Amino acid sequence: MKAAADITPKVQENRSAGSAKNIILGSNSHDQSPIGDTKTVASSLCSPLNLVDQEFAISATDVIKFLSDFLSRLPKTQISYPAEKNGLVSDYALRRNPPEDGLPLPEVLRIISDAAEPRINTVGGGFMAYVPGGGLVTAAIADLIAGVMNPYTGVGAGAPALVALEVNVLHWLAKLVGLPSTAFGILTSGASLATLSAFLCARTAHIPEDFRFGTVYATDQTHHAAAKALRLLGFPGDALRTIPIDGELRMEVKLLKEAITSDRAAGRRPFCVVANAGSTSTGTVDPLEAIAEIARRENLWFHVDAAYGGFFQLTERGRRRMTGIEQADSVVLDPHKGLFLPYGTGCLMVRDREILRRAHTVDKPSFLQDLEEAQFPDFADLSPELTRPYRGLRLWLPLHLHGVAAFRDALDQKLDLAGNQGTPNLELIGSPDLSIVAVRCSAPGGSALDNDDATLKMVAQVNATGRIFLSTTRIGEQVFARIAILSFRTSARDVAEAVMAMQNFANQLAERD
Ligand SMILES: Cc1ncc(COP(=O)(O)O)c(C=O)c1O
Repeated sequence: MKAAADITPKVQENRSAGSAKNIILGSNSHDQSPIGDTKTVASSLCSPLNLVDQEFAISATDVIKFLSDFLSRLPKTQISYPAEKNGLVSDYALRRNPPEDGLPLPEVLRIISDAAEPRINTVGGGFMAYVPGGGLVTAAIADLIAGVMNPYTGVGAGAPALVALEVNVLHWLAKLVGLPSTAFGILTSGASLATLSAFLCARTAHIPEDFRFGTVYATDQTHHAAAKALRLLGFPGDALRTIPIDGELRMEVKLLKEAITSDRAAGRRPFCVVANAGSTSTGTVDPLEAIAEIARRENLWFHVDAAYGGFFQLTERGRRRMTGIEQADSVVLDPHKGLFLPYGTGCLMVRDREILRRAHTVDKPSFLQDLEEAQFPDFADLSPELTRPYRGLRLWLPLHLHGVAAFRDALDQKLDLAGNQGTPNLELIGSPDLSIVAVRCSAPGGSALDNDDATLKMVAQVNATGRIFLSTTRIGEQVFARIAILSFRTSARDVAEAVMAMQNFANQLAERD
């Protein structure tokens, strides 16, 4: 990437009276240097860190230009990178300690640009591996605003009206998954931490303080964030019980009931069942209503992992497929997946807000005694964090700026794209519940191992084009390629290119045999 190459370093040092040193940032497009502007010089005298007025405007404009060049080139940017780019990791500029005197902004941008070369391009439309999101630019703009204003939103009194904006988004999310008005939630750094808080709520609601005999039920299609959250909470390794799946990779609900009964007989304390509303591997939705029914009868917390699938609730097809999610005690969503936000935004919704509070509140220290009870919630009492970034804005701003329909349309388009992938010489695993398609290369007369090998080679060949990036998974004993269609930038053309590349490989294989 050569984004910063056209930004000519033009550093002018303004050594003003005293020791304060102010580096004025310049570029080709800003020949009007603010030197001599008394307001700027005066403010900079306080601290060179205090960027205001034209200095801020100039550097912000340079950064915006840098990013806008990056976005313009995106459709042509490779999704994977050649191995020789790894050499950049040892580049001197990337390894040196921070300098005593600051570098000019163009140089800093150039270093970032170079450092970004060896990377899987997760924001390109051709990125269909793992679970893409895309990195909505307007959410990044919200981050800039939130970062500059830097409000304290751990307690409602810190910035009540800004907290209210976040609260509004949280109510909207609760409604989206069909939870009642008693529900409330938190924004987290991602689904993993939201899952941690969900299990903490489940434990608080259902089992005593000595929780070591507690058991949680899920299938082997459940994301390992669940196992990790239980470990972080201090549960022993066998607390997570694996319930077998049927031929369509969904939980065998009858076997869930049997496992609960047998654990109870052995003196364990079943307290939670996890259902997938879109598994990571294949996007499969568990039978949510049937699981909810068992959870109710057995007095278990019903948790739904909708980190990948949850925002398909915006679409009619998604809502039909996820019927039963509204019965959950807790739901995890990942706006950095289905709402396309930049990484760093997960969400936990809990049916009973009081349990969320009980699980996360401890007695307040005296140094917080001055804080008034605000009309709006103290997120510090509802989540593991005290000081937190103002995450609400990165949802609120894009939702208000683009409108909900833009997100619904984008997600509907992903469902359409995933539904149209019938291809000869490629074996599809069922029809996708949501937007992840799992396919396998099936060479005529090939053994299962041959087909595994062929599927891995097929994905490696597709990825080597640099245009498309896919990942693989194992379902039962077999290897499958995954086409995960979720980024707002992934178009029909990207998907067609991926399918064509796989098709070519499969056809060559078929002709050879
Ligand atoms: C279904 C599901 N649950 C949980 C997670 C973990 O999410 P995060 O990486 O945001 O912590 C993922 C991530 O891909 C996921 O797909």
